[in-house]
Amino acid sequence: MTKVTIIGAGNVGATCANVLAFNKIVSTIVLVDIREGIAEGKAIDILQTAQTLGFETNIIGVTNDYEATCDSDVVVVTSGIPRKPGMTREELIGTNAVIVKDVVTRCLVHSPNTIFVIISNPMDTMTYLTLKCTGLKKNRIIGMGGILDSSRFKYFLKIALKANPSQIDGMVIGGHGDTTMIPLKRFATYNGIPVNKLLPSIILDKVVIDTMNGGATLTKLLGTSAWYAPGASAAYLVESIIKNYKRIIPSCVYLDGEYKQKDICIGVPSIIGRYGVESIIDIKLNVDETELFNNSSETVRNTNNILKNINVF
Ligand code: NAI
Ligand code: 2OP
Repeated sequence: MTKVTIIGAGNVGATCANVLAFNKIVSTIVLVDIREGIAEGKAIDILQTAQTLGFETNIIGVTNDYEATCDSDVVVVTSGIPRKPGMTREELIGTNAVIVKDVVTRCLVHSPNTIFVIISNPMDTMTYLTLKCTGLKKNRIIGMGGILDSSRFKYFLKIALKANPSQIDGMVIGGHGDTTMIPLKRFATYNGIPVNKLLPSIILDKVVIDTMNGGATLTKLLGTSAWYAPGASAAYLVESIIKNYKRIIPSCVYLDGEYKQKDICIGVPSIIGRYGVESIIDIKLNVDETELFNNSSETVRNTNNILKNINVF
């Protein structure tokens, strides 16, 4: 029996629940929201797809009832406000820090052994906040962003190459911010062939820019931030934990010397399994990539410093 709690039954949380159920990844899902009736309603709506889609996952929706979340293997935190057109992820910090601290503290009372997957933005800083305010070991706290940014990178590569999507591979590391993410051009491949051998650099640079603007472009179109790819990305990460798949996933994790950084949570390739972050893959970046990574870390650290000014820990 496996149990996953999702805090926040909004766009991302409900989509994650839907994908987890549809793909039969977990036995029980608990959706929690602060808005009366929302989690209950979404749980019933998803459950009413069970016969059509053929799954048996039990989904429970509750309003602020943390007892229902007891003994969760994984807690996914999506509670908070999303960005509106023109806003950065960083502008959400004041509101979301208070919410994230409150919900993770309450979850831990009922699920002392859980692994947290943090999604609320600014995600790198919310992951760092979770680590600091819970005092948990670093393997138990994972921020989701790099997998989403990587899927956007692969989408734009697929278009540029007019390629079969299943043969495209690529990874985005660094912070989950418009200016902090680092699509790694050098490591992207089309069926094993480096894409920089197949695309002119001007096109590849455009793919990188489109990837970095990927979230903002959708926010402008939708009037709020995206949810299908974020929800599916979260479910992919949860699946690797629940099924102990040990996938390499670019994830926001605590660095203690890896990539020459300390005391920061930021996106790097990590092996994700039953114990959460099972190891960090410290790939050797070249000079340009190192400079980008250092700049990204500096920006994330500056956002982390705001936490101290607003007294959340
Ligand atoms: P949404 O507004 O659709 O859902 C958020 C839900 O959280 C709402 O239903 C709200 O009632 C609930 N909530 C607020 N305070 C709560 C509390 N104290 N306890 C329980 N529930 C609470 O927003 P959406 O689109 O689902 O986004 C959620 C968060 O995820 C945002 O901060 C957004 O920026 C972030 N996000 C992060 C991504 C990533 O890759 N890390 C991708 C997409 C969104
Ligand atoms: C996204 O990348 C806003 O983080 C959210 O869509």
